[in-house]
Amino acid sequence: MIRLVPDHATLINRTACVEFEFDGRVVTGHAGETVLAALMRAGIRHLRDAPTDGAPRGAFCCIGLCQECLVQIDGARIESCRQIVSGGLTVQSLGRPADG
Ligand code: FES
Repeated sequence: MIRLVPDHATLINRTACVEFEFDGRVVTGHAGETVLAALMRAGIRHLRDAPTDGAPRGAFCCIGLCQECLVQIDGARIESCRQIVSGGLTVQSLGRPADG
């Protein structure tokens, strides 16, 4: 016998929506969640390029330990899983440093 459970996602009371920018694209998050959570829900996984070979990098630990989710927010480099989202943030992915 299969027991049907209700769709619990519809029962979550979300906080107010806030909009921020990621690489020129408007992304919507919920006040109080991390930038990473909002980006992942928007389907954005590629946050930076590895400095050695340019391989795409994204979230790994989601608790501020690995620095795989490093992005630039309003001019400062910070782990996106440690930054609480707020309206008007300007977030940029980090490309591979230019050879030289
Ligand atoms: S995912 Fe590891 S520091 Fe953010």
